Amino acid sequence: MGGFLGFVYRQWTVKPKPLPPALSLSGKTALITGANSGLGLEAARELVSRRLSRLIIAVRDPSKVWPLDHDSYESIAGFGKRTEKLERLDYALLNAGVKMMSYEKSALGHETNVQINHLGTSAVSLAVLPALNKTSKKFNTSTRLTIVSSEGHFWIPFKERTASNILMHMDDPKTFGTQQQRYYTSKLLNVLWTRELASKISPEEVVVNTVNPGFCYSGLHRHSASFINVFLWLFAWTPEQGGSCLTDALVRQGGSHGAYVSEQRLTAPSPFVLSPEGATVQKKIWSETIALLKQEAPAIDMSMVA
Ligand SMILES: NC(=O)c1ccc[n+]([C@@H]2O[C@H](COP(=O)([O-])OP(=O)(O)OC[C@H]3O[C@@H](n4cnc5c(N)ncnc54)[C@H](OP(=O)(O)O)[C@@H]3O)[C@@H](O)[C@H]2O)c1
Repeated sequence: MGGFLGFVYRQWTVKPKPLPPALSLSGKTALITGANSGLGLEAARELVSRRLSRLIIAVRDPSKVWPLDHDSYESIAGFGKRTEKLERLDYALLNAGVKMMSYEKSALGHETNVQINHLGTSAVSLAVLPALNKTSKKFNTSTRLTIVSSEGHFWIPFKERTASNILMHMDDPKTFGTQQQRYYTSKLLNVLWTRELASKISPEEVVVNTVNPGFCYSGLHRHSASFINVFLWLFAWTPEQGGSCLTDALVRQGGSHGAYVSEQRLTAPSPFVLSPEGATVQKKIWSETIALLKQEAPAIDMSMVA
């Protein structure tokens, strides 16, 4: 149920639950991007309260945490290299994101929602894969990568999909669309990327999934028109509840390789994603993204997938 009524029903009736208090993550290491605020911060608190042994908090403005800026491939490649030096990495929660309501060019020259949410997140996913894979082999354990997407991926026309080069086309301000369209399209790209990435690696190497955290109070909505406050008041979950959706997908959901997790269960992504056209666009987005990253971010290790 991806329409507005389904959204209202779920936001009102579902109460996301934290990980069971008895669950122990002792001995495990996790990293979370965008963990200085909002859902990432709450997910971090929850993992630590379940006795996680080491947590890497990846933020743009570092003091005692690891630097990571999705708008710099140098930063992303450096971050990936640093994860390879870890004794182990069991979980990676790629949560950092923005919701820009008007066209802005990022420092790297792409539209900002696309850069931060899709290109940056995709680049980080490739950069941390070797560390996750090494851990699963070394400790004969299951390692996991979760990409934070959104139910909003159901709600967009994605007109850009017919362009000869979709990502280049999205650099054109004329294609930005209205309201939250571009943000939601970037979240659709997260779903498509996750599915294609999962098809390239086995769950024995790394389990890869994507999660909708639900509509939650957080700083994400700061660029939205003021009427969003009415929606938040009527429907929003707390950041803690959103954080619990993230930890659930990251740590608990079994059989979730390539899957979309919403309301703490495996569920179908949008009809477009599951359509034959969606399957073709998924492969096209993958090829375009890999080609772009090979050109713009050659320092990122892609050996596991390309
Ligand atoms: N809240 C919701 O209703 C909702 C619904 C669906 C999906 N989501 C998704 O949930 C995730 C977390 O969002 P949130 O609601 O917790 O929002 P938030 O409080 O605004 O957190 C976003 C995080 O992303 C980081 N970030 C932004 N730009 C970055 C960059 N260039 N490089 C590295 N990190 C960057 C932010 O760091 P700074 O503080 O440095 O900017 C912040 O830590 C996002 O992927 C969002 O799309 C949220």
